[in-house]
Amino acid sequence: MNQDLKKKSSAIAAFELILPKLNKDTVLGIGTGSTTNFFIEELNASKVEIKGAVCSSAASESHLSKNITIISLNEVHAIDFYIDGADEYNDRFELIKGGGGALTREKILAYSSDMFICIVDDSKHSDLLGKFPLPIEVIEIARSAISREVMKMGGRPVYRNDFITDNGNQIIDVHNMPMDIPFEVENKINNIPGVVENGIFSNRKADVIIKANEDGNEVLCIEK
Ligand code: 5RP
Repeated sequence: MNQDLKKKSSAIAAFELILPKLNKDTVLGIGTGSTTNFFIEELNASKVEIKGAVCSSAASESHLSKNITIISLNEVHAIDFYIDGADEYNDRFELIKGGGGALTREKILAYSSDMFICIVDDSKHSDLLGKFPLPIEVIEIARSAISREVMKMGGRPVYRNDFITDNGNQIIDVHNMPMDIPFEVENKINNIPGVVENGIFSNRKADVIIKANEDGNEVLCIEK
């Protein structure tokens, strides 16, 4: 099975998992990326009736069918299910996200959700996070200052050329960042002035990971 088929398979499994729980009051959170796009395809095709969806990017909003109401996070109390992919995950359900540059809104939606279902293929697994360059959304004037701080932490920052986030900011991708204790790195980076958000999801990790491999899907659930 190629990677796209695996992504599609985990997205379909996520949709089937939540389908019995969807009703006219349900608010869905929808992330960004190629795996999430497969989930959006399922949702669009189903014609299921929900209250609406909060999206982590303009790109995902544009893929939603006109039958799904797009809602702002400010209009709802919470998100029932947040569905999104990841660039890397570990056995503790910690993630690196932001390959698509939507990490800030993704983290806000994850924090606001009752259940975060992460859809991945098995190539995204890592024993130790950090193989995927860590995206950091930064305020433009702080880019070099933040890069210097990140270098002191052992990482190699690379400016993401020709990319502006939906929030009007820039992205630094940090290679080889030591990440033995992800939540410490997450907190330390977010304390640097000018950092908007970083792509480590450790303080708010996934509740469920649906991992597609050659033999099908494995649904992994974290104990709360
Ligand atoms: C976007 C993300 C995506 O979830 C992540 O990059 C995975 O993307 P894909 O599903 O295309 O592999 O964090 O900011």
